[in-house]
Amino acid sequence: MRRLPPVLIEDGCSRELLSLIRTILAACKEISFRVGQGALSGVLGSTLDENIQGETQKKLDVLSNQLLKDILLESGYVKAIASEEEDFTVAGNPDAEYIVAFDPLDGSSNTDINSLVGTIFSIMRAPKGSDAADPAIFMQPGHQQVAAGYVLYGPCTTLALTIGKGTRIFTLDKTHGSFMLTQEFAKIPEDTKEFAINASNQRHWQPAMQNYISDLLAGETGPRGKNFNMRWIAAMVGDVHRVLCRGGLFTYPADTKDPNKPFKLRLLYEANPMAMLVEQAGGMAHTGDERILDIDPQEIHQRVSVILGSKNEVETCLGYHK
Ligand code: AHG
Ligand code: MN
Ligand code: MN
Repeated sequence: MRRLPPVLIEDGCSRELLSLIRTILAACKEISFRVGQGALSGVLGSTLDENIQGETQKKLDVLSNQLLKDILLESGYVKAIASEEEDFTVAGNPDAEYIVAFDPLDGSSNTDINSLVGTIFSIMRAPKGSDAADPAIFMQPGHQQVAAGYVLYGPCTTLALTIGKGTRIFTLDKTHGSFMLTQEFAKIPEDTKEFAINASNQRHWQPAMQNYISDLLAGETGPRGKNFNMRWIAAMVGDVHRVLCRGGLFTYPADTKDPNKPFKLRLLYEANPMAMLVEQAGGMAHTGDERILDIDPQEIHQRVSVILGSKNEVETCLGYHK
């Protein structure tokens, strides 16, 4: 079994990018350890604070953010960072080549029930001559990402990673602390009989998505002529991992529950990195209007509608949106 560094070097990954990825993973190993200790590490439960998006922060959100932020800024490998748990971008080494956007802990509502959580990250190049303190350096479409990945803290800790040459899956060997290559290239099957939605939002969706899902639910006697199965982990990282492993369609579409918040998932550190991983594994990632990776971001914490997964199924779903 092969360790991560030689695999990435063979793919043409630069020393600097490799060092940056290894720095992120060093923080993730620490998060993995704390998550694994559960109540023993005293990190379950909520803080009294909210993030800029009005969400109560879990202790693990704050801890994971601090670990990633400190190790990245100390490393000298990043020009700036953007995080779900930071109101604004944070400047790093002005001479560094890369910037990183991350969701330090995805699926926070799962922390206290010993269920799946993970870290999602997106690496982009800082524009030449740019100012490390200028948040505009993050306003790049997702197709310009140089790398994207997530680390899933489940029964085992797995890393899905792409540097634009396919999506690979690594498993953390906790006996010696290395990520080992356990799946050379993830390939999302083009067809599927599985979908992932938060069905409690269904009545708030737009008609296109309501119609699509009711046709799936109609099963073999409905217009799709086959039965579908449903899964929802409430952590995008867990749902996307299942899609990478065996296909499926995952969507968190627009809803009218809160007129100030029509979308849930964040573009820079959730939708974009997942879209790159999914496309690199042969899948599709769309908003219903456009390819996620083509969106020109307007702000750091911007939210988008997400429909991703098995290519033919995403296309079928998009057919309802035309
Ligand atoms: P986060 O914990 O980083 O705020 O993200 C949670 C997101 C995403 O991971 C998941 O798909 C979705 O929220 C779950 O939403 P519901 O609670 O509506 O199921
Ligand atoms: Mn998240
Ligand atoms: Mn989060």
